[in-house]
Order: sequence, then C-alpha cells, then structure tokens
Amino acid sequence: MVVCLCQGVSEKRVRAAISAGAHSRKAVTKACGAGAGCGGCHAAIRELICEQQAQAAAHTDVSEAPLLAPLEPAAVCA
Ligand code: FES
Repeated sequence: MVVCLCQGVSEKRVRAAISAGAHSRKAVTKACGAGAGCGGCHAAIRELICEQQAQAAAHTDVSEAPLLAPLEPAAVCA
C-alpha cells in the first residue's frame, strides 16, 4: 500500500524508516521522503509511528528493561 502518493512511498518503506529510528513525522520524511509534498499523508505517517511504538512497548521484555534504553513515546501519540 502506498502511504505517500506525492513521493510514491509505500507503507513498508515508512515502517522500515520508523524501525530504523525515525520516531517523528519529520524524521520519517528525512529517512524515506514520505511526507515531503502536499502533507496529505502526515496523519497516516503519525499513525504508523504510534502503532509501531505501541507494538514495540507491548513486546518489551521487562526482565531486560535495565539493559534497554527507555522508549520515548512520540508526542504525536499522546
Ligand atoms: S501524499 Fe505524502 S506529501 Fe503528499
């Protein structure tokens, strides 16, 4: 599925950018180009960021928590 029509960026590429550390819409745009045009996809990008962060938080093994960097919830997910 294409998330950003202006730049022709797929959901898979946006998710890969988020997984690689792009945790804001601007960071995703910088990483893969999604969102660099009309802005019509910005809400969808933010939703993907929140969704992936929620999934990451749900799968964090608390027994290893002291070894992991704390997850910073994206401001857009509040
Ligand atoms: S649809 Fe992504 S910037 Fe226009």
